[in-house]
Amino acid sequence: MKDLFATSIKYQQGALYVLDQHQLPHQEQWLPCDSSDAMIAMIKKLQIRGAPLIGIGASLLLAHLAEQGLTADELRTQAERLRAARPTAVNLMNCIDRMLATLESVGPLALSRCAEQLFEEDVELCKRMAAFGAELITDGANILTHCNTGSLATAGAGTAIGVIGAVKQQGKQLHVWVDETRPLLQGGRLTAWEMARLNIPHTLICDNMAATLMAQGKVDVVLVGSDRIAANGDFANKVGTYSLAVIAHHHNVPFYVVAPYTTVDPECPDGKAIPIEQRSPAEVQGVSGSFGEINWAPDNTPVYNPAFDVTPAELVSGWILDTGVYTPEQIAAGVLKNL
Ligand code: MRU
Repeated sequence: MKDLFATSIKYQQGALYVLDQHQLPHQEQWLPCDSSDAMIAMIKKLQIRGAPLIGIGASLLLAHLAEQGLTADELRTQAERLRAARPTAVNLMNCIDRMLATLESVGPLALSRCAEQLFEEDVELCKRMAAFGAELITDGANILTHCNTGSLATAGAGTAIGVIGAVKQQGKQLHVWVDETRPLLQGGRLTAWEMARLNIPHTLICDNMAATLMAQGKVDVVLVGSDRIAANGDFANKVGTYSLAVIAHHHNVPFYVVAPYTTVDPECPDGKAIPIEQRSPAEVQGVSGSFGEINWAPDNTPVYNPAFDVTPAELVSGWILDTGVYTPEQIAAGVLKNL
């Protein structure tokens, strides 16, 4: 496979490396990854994360294993293990399906080119979403975003953050409210890091401040990413997205979801059918990172920790995809079933 470079994943001289997102922003450590066990552990720990990127990571690893000489049968087994690493982001399943289809139709040695194409395609998809989305954002906008949807979550510039970067490139003034995104703090740790690298004016807020900012007229638009969009336009994203959509609706603030077609699941009729990942109680009882682990809850406190929630289509102003911006009317007419 040829050398490939993104902000948080790279394939260099026959070896795959992942930037350990669990340790950001204070430590930038690249971890080698040469087995399914290692990739699955990194996906589960969110050392590599974001719907598009986990699909790309799993594909690069499979291609690497093919180059190491694994048989087609062994590759099929590893592909199924990788597919099951996280259940909500359909990009992972889509990438594995594309790799398996290539394996069946051409053979193991074609997997490298397929993984390269998936990587390069994701970079292009990010550019297209960014171009469509940036047209919607007016000069001087205050944008609120949740979780991390940037170059740490994709092979390219990102989904919602890709749009934000394009707005800046167009020379418009902007300011971003960064939701810290409990429990794993993707906003406070990762989006704040990306905003600084992009030199974009931003302010970090606790998730529960968004309603007050909207009531004060300080949010012009909400941009979020997605892990799976159902055929009726309902979509799953990082937990807390749904409450943002409710308060945006209440305050008449436009609320857009930004995602590539690889996030759309036409087989999934509506949000109720999206599988939601449940995660460890420890993530809510405390926090961990490069600084170690802190627990503040009493031992054995019962915890409910779904990683994602579902926002119903009726709360979405528009779906910014790589093929254009879709209105609620277009979505209701079933456009996502035939992308
Ligand atoms: O649990 P994570 O950090 O992988 O969740 C990520 C998100 O929810 C993102 O918003 C989503 O994957 C879209 S990123 C382009």
